[in-house]
Amino acid sequence: MNLETAFRSQAEACAHLGSPMYGVLLTRVADALAAGGDAAEPFARVLAGHEDDPGPSALALRFAGSVHRLVLERRAGALAAYYPSVGGTFEPDGAWTALRGLVEAEPDAVREWLDRPPQTNEVGRSAALVAGLLEVTRATGLPVRLVEIGSSGGLNLLADRFCFVDDRGRAHGDPASPVRLDDAWAGPGPWRAADVRWPHVVERTGSDLMPIDVATTAGRLALTAYVWPDIGARHERLRGALRLAAQHPVEVRRAGALETVERLELVEGTVTVLWHSVMWQYLDRAEQDAVRDRLERLGAQATTTAGFAHVALEPGRRTSEEDRRFWLSVRRWPDGGDELHVGAGPHGPPIVWLTD
Ligand SMILES: C[S@@+](CC[C@H](N)C(=O)[O-])C[C@H]1O[C@@H](n2cnc3c(N)ncnc32)[C@H](O)[C@@H]1O
Repeated sequence: MNLETAFRSQAEACAHLGSPMYGVLLTRVADALAAGGDAAEPFARVLAGHEDDPGPSALALRFAGSVHRLVLERRAGALAAYYPSVGGTFEPDGAWTALRGLVEAEPDAVREWLDRPPQTNEVGRSAALVAGLLEVTRATGLPVRLVEIGSSGGLNLLADRFCFVDDRGRAHGDPASPVRLDDAWAGPGPWRAADVRWPHVVERTGSDLMPIDVATTAGRLALTAYVWPDIGARHERLRGALRLAAQHPVEVRRAGALETVERLELVEGTVTVLWHSVMWQYLDRAEQDAVRDRLERLGAQATTTAGFAHVALEPGRRTSEEDRRFWLSVRRWPDGGDELHVGAGPHGPPIVWLTD
């Protein structure tokens, strides 16, 4: 993928997924690269060496994240005035002039983060994960040991302390939580069941190949920089979750998915829930197969008093004609089914519980 195409396709994706601001700015970078000559020169210089980066490495998001972090650090001069994440107001022409000025004046600073993968910890995805967890606790009635793979900063391991508001305006979870997800759940789902019970989480274990330590300024900065600047709800959720994590720290171990599930044992009197969101695609086929095998073996050991469940929110399609959607799967052992529901957006809410 050439540089222009990388920026243009990312611009379209951002506009489609709720960031008109990145839609405009990344399109203008693509236009400048296409124009060549003086228009392209500052961007071509900053992006030099990345011309052959593979599409999935998301070069345009790495560039946008690097610029955003300069804005958050107050190192981006006039550009900050256009970034809603720091109180600015987006305006296309002014923002474009300021972005161009930054890239011309500070090419080395912009290049600093081009080599790191954009890493987020999307708090909104907890709406799907918790809906799955409600199914598990409703069926088992057992206290929960929560184990996550690909946890990033581990923020969703605190999801039982968030507040989820359904489409009838009913709040579930902690109404005083700094994390409130409005319109989290729509339609009939486990949150409407008469016998629903809020999960009692007795243990939380996070792991990631590249954990982000949210107790550090650098960790919080990274997570904030990769959230698109004009999506206020995502920033608000992230800020709330970071506050909660400061009060209730959760350790995220440096470990791959397979290593984590290999260490996993079931515990009497609890249901062990292995959950993950938007990380499966990063495992190679051998690791995916080995994790699946280990889950089957753990499932075979499960009893009604030492239960096991697998809750996953991952993108995919069931048939080759279908569009990619975010699916929530919930599987329980020893006596549960294998259920598939759909979550609406890549960033979470609203979760629409479909059972077809
Ligand atoms: C897109 S992020 C999702 C993070 C978080 N689950 C969320 O939904 O916000 C994917 C995460 O998977 C982690 N990851 C990638 N490969 C992994 C592996 N083999 N084992 C464990 N974690 C992995 C990455 O470091 C990254 O934090």
